[in-house]
This record gives sequence, structure tokens and C-alpha cells, in this order.
Amino acid sequence: MSSSGITAHGIEMTFTRRGRSNTVLQSLDIEIEPGSFVTLLGPSGCGKSTLLKILGGILRPTAGDVRIGAKSAADAVRDKEIGLVLQRAALLPWKTARENAAHLRHLARGDRKEAYRAADEALELVGLSHAADRLPHELSGGMAQRVSIARALAMDPTILLMDEPFGALDAITRDTMNTTLADIWAATGKTILFVTHSISEAVFLSSTVHMMAANPGRVVDTIDVELPRPRTDEAFSSPRFAEYTARLREQLHPAQIKEAIA
Ligand SMILES: Nc1ncnc2c1ncn2[C@@H]1O[C@H](COP(=O)(O)OP(=O)(O)OP(=O)(O)O)[C@@H](O)[C@H]1O
Ligand SMILES: [Mg+2]
Repeated sequence: MSSSGITAHGIEMTFTRRGRSNTVLQSLDIEIEPGSFVTLLGPSGCGKSTLLKILGGILRPTAGDVRIGAKSAADAVRDKEIGLVLQRAALLPWKTARENAAHLRHLARGDRKEAYRAADEALELVGLSHAADRLPHELSGGMAQRVSIARALAMDPTILLMDEPFGALDAITRDTMNTTLADIWAATGKTILFVTHSISEAVFLSSTVHMMAANPGRVVDTIDVELPRPRTDEAFSSPRFAEYTARLREQLHPAQIKEAIA
């Protein structure tokens, strides 16, 4: 499946509970190019996960319109165009890495042989072919997260939604996973929508970073990261990388966010 872009206009999300309403996102417009790597960055509670789910058609906004490629968000979800990777891998403990990677595709499409073929290909992409027969408790955190990425890739979605997928990993594993993910993105050409708290992770991976602020959640800055690819460890030490991270760090500072909203 080729990749799709996402267009969203006038997004508003208000949660209502016991008669009290909380407007989490307001008047939000965003355009995501097909095949781009786009990151949502912002303070805790500003609405990143909510926006990710809305853009991926998983959550319906209170107001506004989302199109995924030429389709409505609901049609894109029905057609299994959206893959999801969350902070914790949530693998089935009694199934091997290979069985876990094949599971969703097998459920969705029924064809067992085809599901395992797709799972094997996806495990190869995440560099885990050698551990295909291990059970989840025999995998490290980084390996488990690779299986969860393989499970999403095996569905061959056009868009991959990733909500802080490496948040629970140590710094060294996280760097390795970032490089793996950049390679997967280059190899598959999928549109990736990624949420993180890490500024350097955002700059290293992304073609575009959207910086959000809270109350109500909105995009306050958009940066197109023009660092050459493939990005190697040297990217971290380039002056441009430092400029991008400094700009984003300034905006994460609460005083700066207040200014940006005013
Ligand atoms: N289903 C829901 N019902 C009611 N309120 C919700 C719901 N989901 C999210 N919220 C509220 O919306 C706001 C934004 O939540 P969200 O999870 O999108 O933030 P976030 O930016 O992803 O934060 P974090 O970085 O901590 O993951 C929060 O105030 C949260 O309490
Ligand atoms: Mg979140």
C-alpha cells in the first residue's frame, strides 16, 4: 500500500464528564505530506495523544474535518490503513515474537500463510529475524518494542501512529531504536506520525516537528528539519542540529509558551 497524507481543518476536541467540559484542542489545522515523518512535541497534557488519535481516525473530534489521503478518516480506519505503536509493547505473552507479529494481520485478513509471510518480512525490517521464536519474557524491552513495530508493519498500513514508543527504554537502546526507525521509514516510505517528549529524538527523526502548547492544545510552531539523510550519529553534533534543538527547547519553556499564546 502506498503512503497517504493527512489533512485536518478546524479540529476541536472537548471532553465532557459529569456535566463539566474540557476543551483540549481548539481551531487546529494541520497538513501532513504523504511519506513524511512528522513529530508532535509538547508538554505533558497538551493534547499530543489526543491529536495523534484524531489524525489517525481513531478518535472522532468534536468539530473539524480529517481526510486521510482521498478518504474520510472512518473509511481509512475501516480499510486498515492505520498502524498503531504505543509506549508499551503489549505483546501476547504465550505467543512467540513471530506469532505476535502475525497476529493482527491473521485476525484482520484470515489468511494464515500470508500473515506469517508479512510477519517474517516485518521482523527482518526491525532486525529481529534471529529472535522470531522467542516468547515475550525472553525479549529485552527494546526487542519487545521491535516486535510491536513489526506487528504494526505486518498490517501494511499507509500511516504509522507512534505514541512515545521508546519512552520506557534506556538512552542507549533508545538511540539504537531511533536509527532502526529511521531506516524502516526510509525503506517503507510510510507516513509516520510520532509523539515524543524528547527534543533530540524529534529533530533526529523528523522531516517536520510541530511544537504544541497547552490550554487549549494548539500548534505554536512548525519546523521543517533540513538535515541531510541518512542521519547518522554525526547529525547530533552538527551546528544545525543544535539550532533546531535550541529553538524547540526555548519554546518548551513555560514563559515562552505563554508568550506564544498571547
Ligand atoms: N478520554 C478522555 N476523557 C477525558 N479527558 C481526556 C481524555 N483523553 C484525554 N483527556 C484530557 O485531555 C488532555 C490531553 O491529554 P493527552 O493524553 O492528549 O495529552 P498528552 O499531550 O498526550 O500528554 P502526555 O505527554 O502526558 O502523554 C488532558 O487534560 C487529559 O486529561
Ligand atoms: Mg500522551
